[in-house]
Amino acid sequence: MDKKIIYSGIQPTGCITLGNYIGALGNWLKLQDDDNYQCLYSIADLHALTVRQNPAEFRARTLSFFAQYLACGVCPEKNIMYFQSHVPAHAELTWILNCYTYVGEASRMTQFKDKSSKHTDNINMGLMDYPVLMASDILLYNTAMVPVGVDQKQHLELSRDIANRFNNAYSPTFTVPEPYISKMGAKIMSLADPTSKMSKSDENINATISILNSRDEVMNKFKKAVTDSDNSIRIGEDKPGITNLLTIYAAVTNKTIDQALAECADMSYGVFKQHVGEAVDTLLTPIRIKYNELMCDKAHLASIAKDGAERANYLAQKMLRKVYKKVGLYQL
Ligand code: TYM
Repeated sequence: MDKKIIYSGIQPTGCITLGNYIGALGNWLKLQDDDNYQCLYSIADLHALTVRQNPAEFRARTLSFFAQYLACGVCPEKNIMYFQSHVPAHAELTWILNCYTYVGEASRMTQFKDKSSKHTDNINMGLMDYPVLMASDILLYNTAMVPVGVDQKQHLELSRDIANRFNNAYSPTFTVPEPYISKMGAKIMSLADPTSKMSKSDENINATISILNSRDEVMNKFKKAVTDSDNSIRIGEDKPGITNLLTIYAAVTNKTIDQALAECADMSYGVFKQHVGEAVDTLLTPIRIKYNELMCDKAHLASIAKDGAERANYLAQKMLRKVYKKVGLYQL
């Protein structure tokens, strides 16, 4: 039986956050151990160019993100791990899919609207084309499932629409992908403003936990986490801060929300925040240690990325050839 394909990626901007870990990476770790799946995990470096990057910092950050995937336990023997820009078919398929995407639907994407309002001096074509490149990432490999946080759901729906449109225009070519979004932790909120998403580009350092933060940083940020004044630990729309902390606690300790509540309900806010900080630090300490080891051997990182790129290129070329043929490009 052919394995089902799983595809996901992270854009190398800012830092990998606890939100990225809980919403996406944590699920990658579960999926890689299931023999029914072949997973591909990329560093979405081309996506990151939609905002201005300092070339030297960007180059270093992409490698650092790759090492962080590995440090979290994403395993090169079980998965295909590579940099998106090392597989030219991503950009090539994007051109074809651009011709099957309407300007209207691309301009309705929430993330495009958000980002263009934040970067009014640089509303470039790439920003609008971002979800089409993401559709190419996914559709190139006949992906069945895409493990992401809830903020990527709209992009996934566009990928599905593009796939269906292409399949209807020619004949079945692309697998129509399904999102894989956990019920719990699909949207981790900012520690400084629990009504907005924890975002890797947040300028307030207290809003976000990087998976490489030191123990002191983690404990301090949880200590300062914004809650409310009624001193009861429960889930509720009126309690976004406490709800977020309970969700984080449950996710990092692999407990249900009910178990987390039963354990923490009688704590004071101060003790509860410290308890959550400890649990997060317990998760992150081995990742930090592993990361530091991995970064000492850049040649090893490069060899993993090279092997991943070769395997991904082989699969991507097969699909690209098929697509070129279907649309009628003359073949040599
Ligand atoms: P990115 O880099 O913004 O985020 C990476 C992953 O983390 C999830 N995520 C969150 N989950 C829970 N709570 C949060 N606060 C939170 N913030 C982010 C995102 O949903 C995502 O799964 N376009 C994508 C990267 C990408 C991709 C792909 C994903 C490129 N090609 C193909 C899947 C398939 C992005 O910018 O995610």
